[in-house]
Amino acid sequence: MQRRPFLKGVGVVTVVVVGGGVWRAYDQGVFSVGQGPAYEPWKDWRNNSDEGALALVRAAILAASPHNTQPWLFKVTNSSIVLYIDTKRNVGALDPFLREEHIGMGCALENLMLAAAAHGYQATATLLPGKLGPIPAESKPELLARVDLVSGKHEETNLYDAIPRRHTNRSAYKPQKPIPPQFVDTLSRLASEEPDVKLFLFTAEADRKKIVEVSSAANAEIYSDPDVKRGSDRWIRIKE
Ligand SMILES: Cc1cc2nc3c(=O)[nH]c(=O)nc-3n(C[C@H](O)[C@H](O)[C@H](O)COP(=O)(O)O)c2cc1C
Repeated sequence: MQRRPFLKGVGVVTVVVVGGGVWRAYDQGVFSVGQGPAYEPWKDWRNNSDEGALALVRAAILAASPHNTQPWLFKVTNSSIVLYIDTKRNVGALDPFLREEHIGMGCALENLMLAAAAHGYQATATLLPGKLGPIPAESKPELLARVDLVSGKHEETNLYDAIPRRHTNRSAYKPQKPIPPQFVDTLSRLASEEPDVKLFLFTAEADRKKIVEVSSAANAEIYSDPDVKRGSDRWIRIKE
């Protein structure tokens, strides 16, 4: 299988083709800020008119993952994409049962399914049953899901269009910057049609301060565990 132009020379982010067509995307600079080759997949993800099912992987790798570990591997053929989790790419004691990594895999699968519809595939996802367990000492790719692809109708949804906009910008917070009231209003109505979701918005300064203090204390507490810190530091390039 040939590497496509976007895959050549991308520097920090590399998509590797292993024999037999197993794909993997990885990014070694986790909390990198700004522009650069690591951001190319965000720009190029739709330039893919001629590459069939591989285009869906471009969308999948834009998914969120814990500490940007991107634990996914893809095996791509014309009629299916198989998803594996690479259990080596873990954050250690912060996520001892790889629960968060599996959520990241779900995010990638969701992007893939949205992209499948946008590319005119009817996609059927089959999840493998299984239980979470401790991080395996002998790490090897584990099969999580299979997506079967047949020709279907093109359906470009709002969620598909939103894929490149769901992205951490790594910029500093500006706590004094006011949030426009109409934005708060939009947020407050987001869950109005979701009977199982309750949304609480805290806009008063005293409430905000309390939340900042509580979450900051929780953060300090968890990272005071040396095992947690070690597992996490592995993925953090830029430190304060
Ligand atoms: C299960 C899960 C847990 C996450 N937990 C945190 C978190 O605690 N704090 C945080 O700042 N980001 C968290 N993230 C966001 C990731 O750091 C982020 O997705 C990743 O760095 C990639 O950046 P991107 O989402 O902009 O592509 C989490 C993401 C996932 C999928």
